[in-house]
Amino acid sequence: MKKAFITGITGQDGSYLADLLLEKGYEVHGLVRRTSRYIIGSHEGFLATEQVKTDNLKLYYGDLSDFSSISRIISQVRPDEVYNLAAMSDVRVSFDIPEYTGDISGLGAARVIEAVRQSGVPARIYQASTSELYGKVLETPQSETTPFNPQSPYAVSKLYAYWMGKNYRQSYDMFIVNGILFNHESPRRGPNFVTRKITRGVADIALGRPRKIYLGNLDAKRDWGYAPEYVDAMWRMLQADKPDDYVLATGETHSIREFLAEAFSLIGKRWEDYVEIKKELFRPSEVDLLVGDASKAKSDLGWEPQVKFKELVKILLDSDIELAKKNGAEPL
Ligand code: NAP
Ligand code: GDD
Repeated sequence: MKKAFITGITGQDGSYLADLLLEKGYEVHGLVRRTSRYIIGSHEGFLATEQVKTDNLKLYYGDLSDFSSISRIISQVRPDEVYNLAAMSDVRVSFDIPEYTGDISGLGAARVIEAVRQSGVPARIYQASTSELYGKVLETPQSETTPFNPQSPYAVSKLYAYWMGKNYRQSYDMFIVNGILFNHESPRRGPNFVTRKITRGVADIALGRPRKIYLGNLDAKRDWGYAPEYVDAMWRMLQADKPDDYVLATGETHSIREFLAEAFSLIGKRWEDYVEIKKELFRPSEVDLLVGDASKAKSDLGWEPQVKFKELVKILLDSDIELAKKNGAEPL
């Protein structure tokens, strides 16, 4: 039985990846950090996973800031595959806590790969890289050869992690891949990201609850895909003959304004009647346009995204309407 170690298992991608690997018959080991919340119950995806196959899922307390916990788990578990998905992943918040972001999203990745190296375990490693590396883009669409131009403490920390992965691959002949993933969303997406912030608001409005949606820059454009398809590609990257870096994207780009228009059109209302722009939700430095070219992933990994923009908006909205019916109105 293959063993996988996932950091960030309680997040959007980690929970879908755990589901996928359990279905494939893996033994899944996950790093969780101590919080005051009851972990299993507080993550919908994680709860689903836990109900499927508890025996093959094992959790360990640890933290990406704590080398000894990462090192101990890797030496004990001796995983075949390590997926480093943990990060301080909120771009706007990274401007408020830049040092912490560097420690977790940058140095944290170095701790994971160094722990694998020191353990001598021949694990293959997936590093969660990001389209935020392209920042103020120097080429469109963006591919594996597009130069990076990061615009936030988050992106700069991920750039360090990206280069550490490449450096260890070259220096120590380790199997390390960087997945350069464009935005991907799902019903398990954190509620502060713009897609779910919008669909949660629209869900309340659909149910007749009085509601405003407060947003910042509506002109930014993103290449939004569907998270379960992206975790499948992470797994494919670690099954390849040789380690390499891959862009995952849909190849389509849409503005926040278009996302709003699509979501509101599904409930027959005008977004202009419900959205208020707040200055404080703009970022000190913005990434204006992301659109990826995933042709390398298609040719090498046989991966191609199926869910595109309109279907994605509908998946998120349908799910949030169901949630809103169950939970009552939530603050945005
Ligand atoms: P997410 O939902 O924010 O999940 C982040 C995970 O990291 C959570 O499990 C979180 O634990 C964990 N974490 C945070 N700080 C930690 C620490 N100090 N020690 C240990 N664990 C910690 O992110 P996601 O959307 O699933 O993304 C997964 C990865 O891909 C991230 O590295 C992200 O930066 C990257 N990425 C995401 C996208 C995207 O569009 N989703 C695109 C490109 C790259 P808690 O549950 O306790 O908070
Ligand atoms: N979150 C948020 N909230 N974003 C807003 C808002 C708002 O109220 N109003 C406008 N936006 C704009 C942001 O300025 C940004 O241009 C865009 O919506 C997307 O913001 P997010 O959904 O927060 O995602 P992101 O693109 O900054 O970052 C996500 O994708 C990256 C990959 O490109 C995160 O998942 C990162 O971890 C990931 O690396």
